[in-house]
Amino acid sequence: MKISHITGPTNLSGEVKISGSKNAALPILLVSILSQEPIELHNIPLLRDILNAIKILIKLGVKIEINKRIYLDTKKIEICTIPKKITKTIRASIWILGPLLARFGYAKISFPGGCKIGHRKIDLHIFGLTQLGANITICDNHITGSVIGKLKGANIKLSKISVGATITIMSAATLAIGNTIILNAACEPEIVDVANFLNSLGAKITGAGSRKIIIQGVTKLHGGTYKIISDRIETGTFLIAAAISNGNIICYNTQPEMLTYLLKKLIQTGAKINIGNDWINLNMTNINPTGTDIITSPYPGFPTDMQAPFTLLNLISNGISIVTETIFENRFIHIPELKKMGAKAIIKNNSVICYGVKQLNSAKIIALDLRGSASLILAGCIADGDTILKNSDLITRGYENFYKKLRKIGAKIKNK
Ligand code: UD1
Repeated sequence: MKISHITGPTNLSGEVKISGSKNAALPILLVSILSQEPIELHNIPLLRDILNAIKILIKLGVKIEINKRIYLDTKKIEICTIPKKITKTIRASIWILGPLLARFGYAKISFPGGCKIGHRKIDLHIFGLTQLGANITICDNHITGSVIGKLKGANIKLSKISVGATITIMSAATLAIGNTIILNAACEPEIVDVANFLNSLGAKITGAGSRKIIIQGVTKLHGGTYKIISDRIETGTFLIAAAISNGNIICYNTQPEMLTYLLKKLIQTGAKINIGNDWINLNMTNINPTGTDIITSPYPGFPTDMQAPFTLLNLISNGISIVTETIFENRFIHIPELKKMGAKAIIKNNSVICYGVKQLNSAKIIALDLRGSASLILAGCIADGDTILKNSDLITRGYENFYKKLRKIGAKIKNK
């Protein structure tokens, strides 16, 4: 377990270049095996989850070259089995199942791992693939799927909005015979990016970004070059870094239109926001933020991945505010750690009541999930004294060069 020493309080101000989106790059890498021709990907963030997705592709036999860009040769895939050693590291590993079934008619993967932020079931992925004609069994922690002939297009209504299941069904249906309609689909920008990527290879997907996605099956995909969107969660995390520290920050290489709801909420806290085509400026100089209620919900609502950093902002803001989490059941695991730092919070069912305090104190804390760990690192930056954060490399799973970027805007962090 790595340990970080964070010395505060600091003012986090300056410029940050935002990386490519983790949650778009992960599925794009994995669904790339639907094509058998060379693919070149730009703006891939080189973080731990991505390296684990690359391990999955290598295990299958994909040839990969990383050189700022990523080149994939997916022609020769020798096996369709992914062992637990690899799948346990990332939830996203489930996204290889649909493409393997669509291209080869067979797949066996171990159950996906990832952050322990809730039950994180995969029933909707399995339901969608079954509707497309796959036969799926789950036994001894393994998911085995087979298809007689090819997958067949179907009308699929999801009982719950799921980013993961929408991507599984959309990607598998790309090579199915006939048309597929997904109803109650997730609308996240990352889903639009996966659809745009697949369309750039010859897929016929329309409606991505709405609750109804239509996929006209094609017989094969060609190769191509694609640039991944920027990371809206990384952008939001850095905006909050400035918001909690009376800072003034410019995030560039980002896409402001993907952060509309978060920006609206940040303005309610008192932040001054300016935006350009590919940058956002948040200025909280000489402003004491005001606690602001949030309720997480699927896009275009408030993103659950921004809940932990925004809760931190509320915990040091004026007044009482309520944060309600509706997507995952166990996403407040960072709260007891923040309380060790002097935060005043009460968890009631799926809400946290935040009683803003003027100053957090340093403490010995532990990072337990990805987005919670971002919030703890930021808390260390504004707390008075030396905070010792255990398991501090958890952040490298989902943020590219997080510590380096934070130091550039004034954080004092030593990693051991
Ligand atoms: C993705 C993101 C994650 C984000 C989440 C919601 C990646 C790698 N992860 O996760 O960062 O927080 O979207 O925006 O992109 N569910 C089921 N059955 C299923 C699938 C999901 O019940 O088969 C439930 C989940 O337990 C959860 C809800 O649906 O309560 C939403 O999950 P989902 O949108 O699928 O999230 P992920 O794809 O896991």
